Amino acid sequence: MTEHTSDVVVVGAGLIGLATAWRLAADGIQVTVCDPTPGAQTSQVAAGMLAPVTEVEYGEDDLLALNLAGVNAWPAFAAELEELTGLSAGLHQTGTLSVAYDVDDAAALRRLADYQRRLGLEVEELSGRDARRREPLLATGVSGGVWVPNDHSVDNRQAVAALLRAIDLSGVQLIRQHVARVITSGTTAVGVLLDNGDTVHAGTVIGAAGPWSSQLEGVPEELRPPVRPVKGEVLRLRVPEAYRPALRHTVRATARGFSVYLVPRPGGELVVGATTSELGYDTRVLAGGVFSLLRDARTVLPVMDELELVETIAGLRPATPDNAPILGPSGLDRLLWATGHYRNGVLLTPITAQILADTVRTGDLPDLGKPFLGSRFGQSGH
Ligand code: GLY
Repeated sequence: MTEHTSDVVVVGAGLIGLATAWRLAADGIQVTVCDPTPGAQTSQVAAGMLAPVTEVEYGEDDLLALNLAGVNAWPAFAAELEELTGLSAGLHQTGTLSVAYDVDDAAALRRLADYQRRLGLEVEELSGRDARRREPLLATGVSGGVWVPNDHSVDNRQAVAALLRAIDLSGVQLIRQHVARVITSGTTAVGVLLDNGDTVHAGTVIGAAGPWSSQLEGVPEELRPPVRPVKGEVLRLRVPEAYRPALRHTVRATARGFSVYLVPRPGGELVVGATTSELGYDTRVLAGGVFSLLRDARTVLPVMDELELVETIAGLRPATPDNAPILGPSGLDRLLWATGHYRNGVLLTPITAQILADTVRTGDLPDLGKPFLGSRFGQSGH
């Protein structure tokens, strides 16, 4: 049994845990990250949309402010990551086109555009013909669109690879082990015990285990974050040379009342997502999920028939009761949360890392993070 020591131990090496570790290491803090399969869960499955505007939900104003800060943080984060590692961080600033298929879809899209404008967000309503001018392969049945210039995308798999290289270059220790429990001394977290019996003693523990954060043994039940897994199925397709680029921008569509998004990558990949199912920790890809994604994507992009279906995959979004993340103090001294990012994990990676690094450095959660304390769910101990 080995006893490691570190200033900070991060539980979970998804995008959030990796980026947080990197930011802390850049501040000169000694960091250890524990995960049996770094970057291999939700961070691998996501489509990588940066969509604060097109995914805005009625009444989620605090989350919108954080999401806008999230998209604004990406360019500098990506540039720094690329400079350090020589790898692409996968950021594509292409804008997003929302499209509607039938008359009811168009009415819903117009209502959303009105709301987006009232929030001061930049959106431009388009006719079906103008939407097709931006994306010539869209179906002739597309009845209208909304152009959103500031919603972008990230190739999350490239971002994971770059962050793994960055933490290595920054001296972060990565231990490929599952955390069995948080070790406490009275009401203070002092480290973690790993499945192989090793321990990591640390001044601060950061829980960044995504949908598994609520399972972290050693944290008293009443202080565990109310995070649950919400499954999403995603397809990856290859666009033949003859049809490239099938899309120039991320396209989000409402087709006969169903939502689908299509995220193009520069290399000819098209990512189509995503279903939403409350099935617990179930990552089976079901035929019905694949069928509905193909049906809805094909309704707005008929050339889908000509693409090679290369991958079907499912991941677990870490959802919270109000769809917003859980950041900062946990109620257990020296345990901080960076979890519950639900639909916005890729989007919120740089800003979450910055908020957590600032919290560790100063001892205070920055103002931007304050609406996202776990205590808003009535947990005791905060
Ligand atoms: N943000 C896209 C999704 O969660 O499906």
